[in-house]
Amino acid sequence: MLETLDIKITKVKESRLPQVDFDNLPFGRVFTDHMLVADYVDGQWQNFEIVPYGDISVSPAISSLHYGQSFFEGLKAYKHADGKVSVFRPDKNAVRFNKSAERMCMPTLPEDVFVKSIAALVDVERDWIPTREGYSLYIRPYMFATDRFLGVTPSETYKFMILTCPVGAYFSKNLNVKVETEFSRACEGGYGYAKAAGNYGGSMYPAKKALEQGYDQLIWTDAKNHEFIEEMGAANIAFVINNKVITPSTRDTILNGVTRDSVLTLAKDFGYEVEERRVAVAEVLEAIQNGTCSDAFGAGTAATIAQIATITHEGKVYELPNPSESVFANKMRSTLDDLKCGRIEDTRGWNYIV
Ligand code: PLP
Ligand code: COI
Repeated sequence: MLETLDIKITKVKESRLPQVDFDNLPFGRVFTDHMLVADYVDGQWQNFEIVPYGDISVSPAISSLHYGQSFFEGLKAYKHADGKVSVFRPDKNAVRFNKSAERMCMPTLPEDVFVKSIAALVDVERDWIPTREGYSLYIRPYMFATDRFLGVTPSETYKFMILTCPVGAYFSKNLNVKVETEFSRACEGGYGYAKAAGNYGGSMYPAKKALEQGYDQLIWTDAKNHEFIEEMGAANIAFVINNKVITPSTRDTILNGVTRDSVLTLAKDFGYEVEERRVAVAEVLEAIQNGTCSDAFGAGTAATIAQIATITHEGKVYELPNPSESVFANKMRSTLDDLKCGRIEDTRGWNYIV
């Protein structure tokens, strides 16, 4: 499709790259020189442009501001030792992008246009991709409504944009997490499976309260009874119990993560049995208590493999075995890193070479 996807490129006169402190890269605060912008007007995607990164001007009446008609994606690009650049599984994000679009009454984008737009921007920014272990270029595609109209109806015009940020680790330590039993991230029939902006806005208050109580993150549970585990912060969650990899099955309250899918696929390669099913809070706490739970971790693009040190439920602390000695999570992290950076063979074509 790139043949037919015409992207106009206007480059910056002077790159900001020499001013960037790659030893100090707070997640999502350092932006590369350029961004991609496209418009949905008259029922068609048009005006694909890569332009210098900067502020944009929109009407104060757009429904993305008033009613949250907005969603995003998150994926990463890596630089290999031979200088090759790859994006990890962008085809999966393209599919999820359109699932979010449909749920939010927004236009879909052809999957190849999504992927080629990312590739075009990453290509322009290839010098910004950090090479240090655990570092990468975070890619943030997003779409938002742009009609000047205060009625609660879907907008007829939209913007698709992509930003990129060189990033290091999202979490710098093993996590002390709390099982959330008051607030919910998503409910049945809702839109938890979409990467809609509102899901994240609504999660900030419970997350802030948890931070104030001394926790690093929340484990989200089902909205009805807070009995089943769903996700951890902005990541999926998995456990190794009795040498089986166990993770909540996806449903309309859970984001179907690309990292989750990669972990489950590689777990089977490692010879582990994998169970995707409802996971009761009580089952996990009991397994921690009786010593059969060896690993608990969040899995996400930003989070990567984020190991859990303790889980607190209703004030009682459950301590996991020392995460640095965990066989599964550490092997998974290093295998994923090796795969993404081209150090081991990519047998499934997960690396999209730019
Ligand atoms: N769940 C939520 C709520 C997220 O925000 C994310 C991050 O994107 C994930 C799960 C993990 O998804 P992925 O592995 O595709 O990044
Ligand atoms: C991602 O992993 O891409 C996410 O969406 C997490 C983010 C909200 C920081």
